Amino acid sequence: TNRIYELERGSLYTYKGNYEVFLEKRAEREALAEQKETKRQNLLRRELAWLRRGAKARSTKQKARVDRAEALKEQKGPAVSGSLDFAIGSHRLGKQVIEADNVSITYNGQALISQFNELVIPGERIGIIGPNGIGKTTLLNSLAGRIQPDSGNITIGQTVRIGYYTQDHSEMNGDMKVIEYIKETAEIVKTAEGDVITAEQMLERFLFPRPMQQTYIRKLSGGEKRRLYLLNVLMQEPNVLFLDEPTNDLDTETLSVLEDYIEQFPGVVITVSHDRYFLDRVVDRLIVFEGHGVISRFQGSYSEYM
Ligand SMILES: Nc1ncnc2c1ncn2[C@@H]1O[C@H](COP(=O)(O)OP(=O)(O)OP(=O)(O)O)[C@@H](O)[C@H]1O
Ligand SMILES: [Mg+2]
Repeated sequence: TNRIYELERGSLYTYKGNYEVFLEKRAEREALAEQKETKRQNLLRRELAWLRRGAKARSTKQKARVDRAEALKEQKGPAVSGSLDFAIGSHRLGKQVIEADNVSITYNGQALISQFNELVIPGERIGIIGPNGIGKTTLLNSLAGRIQPDSGNITIGQTVRIGYYTQDHSEMNGDMKVIEYIKETAEIVKTAEGDVITAEQMLERFLFPRPMQQTYIRKLSGGEKRRLYLLNVLMQEPNVLFLDEPTNDLDTETLSVLEDYIEQFPGVVITVSHDRYFLDRVVDRLIVFEGHGVISRFQGSYSEYM
């Protein structure tokens, strides 16, 4: 069982036996949850109709039925396939997020960004698009305070806690085990409700089953390393998340976990991407590089922009 096999998906390497059992169990759980949910919905529909007909809770029995209908309404449906069924808490984000004031950046006599102004407010989902080499990463770096503009100012709010998934491959210590690497960042994270989620559970969410958590990082595939790196960024519990072309080296399964994470994420997301599907799911406005330092805006989805 310690041998690593390649599954059909190509990019996904894992312990074969365990992973198949894991998938099977997950499918079983989902089927069961779906059945239960259908039942709940039917019952709820019936009880709500009964309530609407003006049922009066005169007898104790009727009172109990009203209570039950109310309780049914309160119950949550099951989480959809593979999604995170908890909202991970993040550090409180104040009104001040990021402000760019008249920012210009020039490299080798080429104006990448000229007199750029931007105000990022809480809850925003921003996509940055444009051709290769036009300055997208440079803009992201300057908004994150990683590089100083040639002129102008970037102001980052006091409460801002940045998580940055970079485009270039970061160094990872290959002699560390997967679980050690994540625990070095955080042993636990808390949900929005204050419940504790362990590093092991988060790894499972990010498609590292328990046996795989004991693997050395050097044995992981390129895609798995990127997935692990992504999780590490999220374990920092950022409230402003920078993503530089995440769809380039993450497999589709990881992307759907990331999209689910972002959906419940209360903070700001700023992402560079060329991926129409990802952008449509994640962002609601765009910063568009037109070339020669000209940057325009679009309020709406990427598909609408196209
Ligand atoms: N520190 C630097 N010094 C000099 N030139 C730089 C520096 N950083 C970036 N550049 C140049 O600036 C241009 C824009 O780079 P940047 O990485 O921001 O583009 P990008 O839009 O992110 O490209 P890609 O789509 O390939 O990721 C490139 O021509 C790059 O070579
Ligand atoms: Mg780039």
